[in-house]
Amino acid sequence: MIKIFFIVIVLLSSLNANEVNIYTHRHYPSDKILFKKFTQISGIKVNVVQANSDQIMKRLEEEGKYSPADLLLTVDVGRLYIAKKKDLFQPIQSKFLEEVIPLHLRDKEGYWFGVTKRARVLVYNIDSIDPKSLSTYEALTSKDYKGSILTRSSTNIYNQSLLASIIAHKGEKEAKTWAKGVRENFARKPTGSDRDQMRALAAGVGKIAIVNTYYVGQLINSDKFSDRAVAKMIGIFFPNQGENERGTHINISGIGVTKYAKNRDNAVKFIEFLCSVEAQKIFTSTNYEYPVNKNVSPSKLLQSWGSFKEDNIQLDKLGQNNTEAIKIFDEVGWQ
Ligand SMILES: [Fe+2]
Repeated sequence: MIKIFFIVIVLLSSLNANEVNIYTHRHYPSDKILFKKFTQISGIKVNVVQANSDQIMKRLEEEGKYSPADLLLTVDVGRLYIAKKKDLFQPIQSKFLEEVIPLHLRDKEGYWFGVTKRARVLVYNIDSIDPKSLSTYEALTSKDYKGSILTRSSTNIYNQSLLASIIAHKGEKEAKTWAKGVRENFARKPTGSDRDQMRALAAGVGKIAIVNTYYVGQLINSDKFSDRAVAKMIGIFFPNQGENERGTHINISGIGVTKYAKNRDNAVKFIEFLCSVEAQKIFTSTNYEYPVNKNVSPSKLLQSWGSFKEDNIQLDKLGQNNTEAIKIFDEVGWQ
């Protein structure tokens, strides 16, 4: 029955070939603007299915070759890595994408491409922390920070990828020592989103939080007075900037063409559009993410936070280390 349903969808969609079907985990106003703009420029209709990442991957897997999806757009390289491993993508070649996106932000074989960058940084309560005292992710294990650290749960892929990067740079043993040390300095049991960590920070629960940069932008520009007040209470610190340090941990939002895409050419055009100068400017100005296109500067707000050295690790290594990261979190009791 389900198969017949999907066959009907596929047949219907083939009647109107000038379209592209996207499964997305992202739920930001910037994306709606971009979908509309793509249609204006190309004449290609964009059909969107939006759901949480696990649901959307599962759906794509279950639909198999009957899936109407041409593209999977998601956040965190850990998920893109899994999608490639599950054979949900097909490789594509694009001179434009290879030219504008640095190699470490895309799959070497063309299965997925970063479309935006985000940094996982430290934010601190400006009343209780002098930023001069901050340095690295590793320093968060210092006894000085007992009862100070706020972060979300280890079920969250952003923390898994951060730990995966530490495994890649320092090895499993040191990564475990780090996770244990941070866990011992928790201000409270991990709960809530990155934004909730900053709200707790402003309320005096803890002094330092680990968050993604665009959430700071969301608080600064929030409709809610209370969230704008939170933003005024916090400072941003980019860790691991020393001469011999690796730089701040970077992750991406990324996209790939699905294995059974019926509108493959349109799908490639869509990815190229998302990485164009025009689209990259919209991502950075309305969703406070960093551009992946090396010819586009971050928005003025992001520039006001300062430039910083990025950890340029080949991102698929984070996917490779994901299982180990989850195991370490479990072993050290980081819930
Ligand atoms: Fe997010």
